[in-house]
Amino acid sequence: MANAIKFFELNTGAKIPSVGLGTWQSEPGLVGAAVSAAVKIGYRHIDCAQVYGNEKEIGVVFKKLFEDGVVKREELFITSKLWCTDHSPEDVPAALERTLRDLQLDYVDLYLIHWPVRMKKGSAGFKPENFIQPDIPSTWRAMEALYDSGKARALGVSNFSSKKLGVLLAVARVPPAVNQVECHPSWQQAKLREFCKSKGVHLSGYSPLGSPGTTWLKSDVLKHPILNMVAQKLGKTPAQVALRWGLQMGHSVLPKSTHEERIKENFNVFDWSIPEDLFAKFSEIEQARLLRGNSFAHETFGPYRTVEELWDGEI
Ligand code: A2P
Repeated sequence: MANAIKFFELNTGAKIPSVGLGTWQSEPGLVGAAVSAAVKIGYRHIDCAQVYGNEKEIGVVFKKLFEDGVVKREELFITSKLWCTDHSPEDVPAALERTLRDLQLDYVDLYLIHWPVRMKKGSAGFKPENFIQPDIPSTWRAMEALYDSGKARALGVSNFSSKKLGVLLAVARVPPAVNQVECHPSWQQAKLREFCKSKGVHLSGYSPLGSPGTTWLKSDVLKHPILNMVAQKLGKTPAQVALRWGLQMGHSVLPKSTHEERIKENFNVFDWSIPEDLFAKFSEIEQARLLRGNSFAHETFGPYRTVEELWDGEI
């Protein structure tokens, strides 16, 4: 079938659709229509998080899509994430319950620890005095109970360095299935990619277009000459080439858009490929992390004095 979605297999045996719709910074009032359009176009993977503040609106759309028979629940792969204020083991089940209530679901397909960062329960924003020492093993044990209950069908993490992922793997009874991190041609995650591969952890790439709409970033990923040269040669857009590069690297990609035309464009990446000679060119692209997590590092407060500590030097 032309343009049929492809899947990657997780260490749970479940299949994760290789392209998912990102919902970070999808404004309330627009996100519902975006999710609805995406599912009708053929997306089967929606990437959510409690902290994005839009799960309620997405839940209304899921309900309608199921009621209208557009898609069945079991055909969708839905991810959500535990926010930093809910790391205490006793708060973890309540956080998932809230997400399930908002999304109007009985289970999520994947539940991630959003950051290796802990903040005081109920605190808002990124005030340095809100940061406390994370205890990932104890948070993870609470996540494992959610897996045992069937409410989270796979567990994972997000924004974990190779080192932090390794520490977790050493103590986990249920190993993380996914590490969701920034990944695009200008931040290819070579080291983390190898580590994940060696441990059977699937890498999922957020900001696969380099987050061009994020006003506080200077993102030129889609403008890179190599990406544009390849796009021109193949008759595709730079966004499609960036996404296709991700699929050929072996990771899933989570492009965000609230525009139907772009949602469609970002999905037309399955029935063609980047030939080997052009694919090799991507290794020449200079590398820089865009989303550095500056708000999570503070010289006196919290566990990370610098962003180098947050990423364990992978920066
Ligand atoms: P919009 O939502 O207005 O369509 P990322 O997924 O890397 O975080 O990038 C998301 C940003 O990229 C959003 O600002 C989104 O804008 C924009 N975007 C999404 N798809 C495309 C595309 N095909 N071409 C150009 N920009 C896009």
